[in-house]
Amino acid sequence: MSEKTLRSSRLILSVTGLSMLFLVLSSFFLFHSVINPFMPSSVFKFIVVGDDNVYIKPEENGESVERLVIPIAPSIKDTHETKDDIVEAFGDTDLNERAPTVCDKNKALLRVYMYDMPPEFHFGLLEWKAGSNRIWPDVSNPSQVPRYPGGLNLQHSIEYWLTLDLLSSNIKEIVRPCSVIRVEKPSEADFIFVPFFASLSYNRHSKVHGKEKVSLNRKLQNKLVEYLMRRPEWRKSGGTDHVIVAHHPNSMLYARRKLGSARFVLADFGRYVAKTANPEKDIIAPYKHVVKPISNNSSAPFEGRPTLIYFQGAIYRKDGGAIRQELYYLLKDESDVHFTFGSAQRSGVRQASQGMGSSKFCLNIAGDTPSSNRLFDAIVSHCVPVIISDDIELPYEDVLDYSRFSVFVWASDAIKPGFLLNLLRGIPRDEWTMMWMRLKEVAHHFEYQYPSQPSDAVDMIWQALARKKYTSNVNRTERGYRMP
Ligand SMILES: *[C@@H]1O[C@H](CO)[C@@H](O)[C@H](O)[C@H]1NC(C)=O
Ligand SMILES: *[C@@H]1O[C@H](CO)[C@@H](O)[C@H](O)[C@H]1NC(C)=O
Ligand SMILES: *[C@@H]1O[C@H](CO)[C@@H](O)[C@H](O)[C@H]1NC(C)=O
Repeated sequence: MSEKTLRSSRLILSVTGLSMLFLVLSSFFLFHSVINPFMPSSVFKFIVVGDDNVYIKPEENGESVERLVIPIAPSIKDTHETKDDIVEAFGDTDLNERAPTVCDKNKALLRVYMYDMPPEFHFGLLEWKAGSNRIWPDVSNPSQVPRYPGGLNLQHSIEYWLTLDLLSSNIKEIVRPCSVIRVEKPSEADFIFVPFFASLSYNRHSKVHGKEKVSLNRKLQNKLVEYLMRRPEWRKSGGTDHVIVAHHPNSMLYARRKLGSARFVLADFGRYVAKTANPEKDIIAPYKHVVKPISNNSSAPFEGRPTLIYFQGAIYRKDGGAIRQELYYLLKDESDVHFTFGSAQRSGVRQASQGMGSSKFCLNIAGDTPSSNRLFDAIVSHCVPVIISDDIELPYEDVLDYSRFSVFVWASDAIKPGFLLNLLRGIPRDEWTMMWMRLKEVAHHFEYQYPSQPSDAVDMIWQALARKKYTSNVNRTERGYRMP
């Protein structure tokens, strides 16, 4: 071959290569949310009242923690870019271009109509007193919006943050991303938002008082069903374009089947039959973490985290939860493992904060539901989550690759003697550090705040809903379960 033909064939080769790259890239963007049919693993389970999402003070204090020497293994997972980098990068560019004024409803990803339902369904539950003829509080001054009750209620406060964000989307003073905008006419909307604070209603008003026959929580759900069934918007779509937030696994218990055609925003599908809630139509939202997030600067690196494995929580003997007990017996005698059960205490949160911030790996073991706030507490503590919950659903998993900052283990493997310890002790410093750095980058996706910020939890939930507008498919990124 002459040099000339060689050069031209090289040219043809690179042109072909480039066009193939473009082809692949463009089909990727076109189809990035087209997925395998996903099998909902949700089966109906009996409702256990009570909540695992409390931190529990260990019964004994002052267990010794020792510094570890971890053998360096030969291979280090390579760190190629994954599609969440691309999606994030694009998301951010978009958001940065948006000016700090009321967003343009033609440019927003989503147009949402919100029912002006009476305050008893929403801010009235926060003891906000609506003046005459008022339905919504004034949210133009963030320091004066009604507060959601603190403590453990907050972990399910998603209803509150989403509602506030919609209310503020027409207020000039509030600078926020422009993923969603509230529109005045249902006919302009992609979705119709139902502003019922279902989790708060469950947490605060489930008791039957005095001579009442039913709780306020149940009464409100009945009223909600009546309200929606009368609405022309619901009748028109059969509810399929309605969005209902029911983050506490026990919320909307009485109304969920009747309203099952709507899209739910949930913590997981553990207590739903697949017909009522499933990954094709519904959105998984993170819990609001209860521990204080660690700042980048004060986040301890590998050497600064003397505890190898951290877990603090309740013991469960039913459903998926029996595994906690088995793991406890496997791990309890290791000096670099903190694994405690005990009675619920408020000080548990502070302790968990400290414990997670000084541990390399934090266990997320299925309890009475597949999900818990513990995962999100681990993420904001930059403690690499070890997810042992076969049925767990993860927020925005179609665009966020959790395997880059978490370790997935099947429950049946986790309880094999020695497996978990060997696996985690065998993860080299460099591999752990890559995951830790990734945790720092993704932690803000799990932050609920008002006003909402680009790519925070509120914004990510709206973006997830926007993706549902075009497809009901559920491609999730590869979890890469670690096997014995
Ligand atoms: C979605 O999943 C299917 C099946 O695994 C795969 O063929 C397809 O390429 C995935 N789509 C994207 C955009 O990742
Ligand atoms: C974090 O550290 C950097 C450099 O050391 C410093 O410039 C920055 O102000 C610190 N940020 C906080 C929040 O402490
Ligand atoms: C923390 O650091 C990561 C990169 O390591 C960065 O992406 C993230 O924005 C930082 N977070 C804050 C709050 O500065």
